[in-house]
Amino acid sequence: MDPFKPHLAEVADYPYAKVDAAIKLDQNESPEDFPAELKARVLTRLAALHWNRYPELHADDVRADLARHEGWPEAGVVLSPGSNLLIMALSQAATSVLDTSPAFPYYKGSAVAAGTPYRAVPLAPGFGLPLAALRSAMDGPPGVLFLPNPHAPTGALFAAGDLARLAEKARATGWLLVIDEAYHAFAGTDARPLARDNPSVAILRTFSKSWCLGGIRTGYLLAAPRVAAVVKALLPPFCIPAHTGVVIRAALEAPGYVAPLVERIRGERKRLLAGLADHPRWTAYPSVANFILVRTPDAKAAYDALLARGLLVRRQDHYAGLTGCIRVSVGTRAENDAFLAAAAEAP
Ligand SMILES: Cc1ncc(COP(=O)(O)O)c(C=O)c1O
Repeated sequence: MDPFKPHLAEVADYPYAKVDAAIKLDQNESPEDFPAELKARVLTRLAALHWNRYPELHADDVRADLARHEGWPEAGVVLSPGSNLLIMALSQAATSVLDTSPAFPYYKGSAVAAGTPYRAVPLAPGFGLPLAALRSAMDGPPGVLFLPNPHAPTGALFAAGDLARLAEKARATGWLLVIDEAYHAFAGTDARPLARDNPSVAILRTFSKSWCLGGIRTGYLLAAPRVAAVVKALLPPFCIPAHTGVVIRAALEAPGYVAPLVERIRGERKRLLAGLADHPRWTAYPSVANFILVRTPDAKAAYDALLARGLLVRRQDHYAGLTGCIRVSVGTRAENDAFLAAAAEAP
């Protein structure tokens, strides 16, 4: 006898193991912290908050600020503690989940946990969008298609015209195309025009990367009101804590720190790609995100060699088609120098 639903026999925890290292380049975080003056502003406001009171049901005060910032109707904005929770809610709501292989693992993880039928279409050669295969999969009964753009974990960017075709296919078939823009700031791309007049397209964004707020756990959905209503109904009530709301509102009040950080990351990404271009054993793939996927002869050997020099990266060789691959987040200039020096000597 088991108290749990039979499909949970297959469920596994998110594939992440904490490892301590001097230089942490394994989670695509911002290498720079949230600005000190904004932290100070937040701390003052936290002291004035009534900690005994529940926050608003759906962080409505934060939502209004965010809707203004994004130029999106408030009824289509949903906040949650990390965009992962929005992915979970969408997977729970979906009759089926479709993604690409490889892709950010939680699309599959959340579908399996929710007991929602899941399938994946392999990426096209060169990590391209498998447009024809996705379109033909969408001829079946409608479900939810998760597509990260820039793509994770490859760092590739899909062509705007291909995404537009996919969006039109979703409109015609009743699928929901969820474009996960966790890394869009580093690419300078924006899926809002695709979603604005098409209720079959929704966008996921997060404060975890370019906003320097990975520890605060806030992501959001920009969608049609009907999609937002379904997701809100599946989220736990009052799930954005009051202190989180204070941090996010402070960020939205003074968002000017984001663009210079993004510029620094882009410059460092260029430097890392140039530094890896002549590597005798490794191939670095082009990236428009804040991380780079690198193919090595042996991912474990490369990972171990980097860790021995105090550098933590992420192995990606468990994904289909990514044999030998590791992924490195773009760090500070000093961190990237240390990475390039260690990489030059790594197997
Ligand atoms: C493509 C993609 N989507 C979503 C997430 C989750 O972001 P959050 O921190 O908002 O849960 C990540 C995190 O690394 C990601 O890479």
